[in-house]
Amino acid sequence: MLSRIFLGLAASAALLAAQNVQNQALTGEAARSAEIAKTNPFNTEADVQQGNALFQVQCTYCHGARGEGGRGADLTAGVYKMGGADPDLFKTVRSGIPGTEMPASRLTDDEIWKMVGFVKRLGSRGLSEKAPGDAAAGKALYAKNGCAGCHRIGDEGVDLGPDLSDVGRRRGLAFLEESLVKPEAFVSNTFRAVQLVMKSGPAVGGIRLNEDDLSVQLRDTNGNLRSVMKDGVKELRRDKPSLMPSYERLSKTDLTNLVAYLNSLKGAQ
Ligand code: HEC
Ligand code: HEC
Repeated sequence: MLSRIFLGLAASAALLAAQNVQNQALTGEAARSAEIAKTNPFNTEADVQQGNALFQVQCTYCHGARGEGGRGADLTAGVYKMGGADPDLFKTVRSGIPGTEMPASRLTDDEIWKMVGFVKRLGSRGLSEKAPGDAAAGKALYAKNGCAGCHRIGDEGVDLGPDLSDVGRRRGLAFLEESLVKPEAFVSNTFRAVQLVMKSGPAVGGIRLNEDDLSVQLRDTNGNLRSVMKDGVKELRRDKPSLMPSYERLSKTDLTNLVAYLNSLKGAQ
């Protein structure tokens, strides 16, 4: 756990350093200050509208046109893991959140401040969509359908699929439903499935962790870490990118309830 935190920190420091060099090359040093203002210096109505325009181009892909969330977090809830004060949001938008899909931005500081103004407005309107289903019924469905055989929530379950402890904060409602009925529609880089057809012996399937010229490292479907030498592999198949089965067969009500349960998982806070 500690080493994971340390690795994470080292990786984010390296990322930040790389990002800084890149940005100096891109925008010149003046556009990026080391000091971050305590309150947003770009907060006129015109600034917020420019922020909206930038948001539409750079962010809706993950956060939705109205900030309702999708692959990215619901920004209309006004709840932030990394802090909701102006300088916190500035840092989140400028540097991204290392170890997640939230990317760093290459825009100038002025542009980032304008977007922060718009993000704050999204979070303060109280437009957050409430999940329509019954979360308690969804929790029972989660147990009944064996989801914990691949996922972790808090201390329970395993790590074959993504940890769902805070999935309701990280992902929007539409994305959650799509994850259940069409798991293949989006598979993050860290959870791509592979099937190894061996020259002899049974096939090996799992989540691809790493690959080099000689071997493939994977977490097999029993959760074991394995390294397989490529010279014993007849065929490396990636035609089924997700290990997760589709739950399309569930009734509309069950799906809505499961989504409500997933949406209620906001992490330990
Ligand atoms: C490739 C997808 C993607 C793009 C593009 C993206 N985000 Fe995100 N964003 C995410 C994800 C995923 C999260 C949730 C990360 C987590 O906490 O695990 C997130 C979280 C956030 C948060 C909440 C952070 C917190 O403290 O909880 C803010 C604010 C945010 N994004 C703003 C933006 C803005 C502004 C842009 C455009 C410049 C943007 N994002 C572009 C995926 C994206
Ligand atoms: C056989 C293993 C397996 C089972 C069973 C399974 N999942 Fe998954 N799940 C995965 C894997 C692997 C991924 C990552 C790849 C993907 O996104 O399709 C995933 C992704 C997800 C995601 C998207 C998470 C994110 O942050 O991107 C959600 C939500 C989810 N599963 C919920 C469920 C629920 C609810 C159930 C039970 C009804 C379930 N899963 C059953 C393996 C499984």
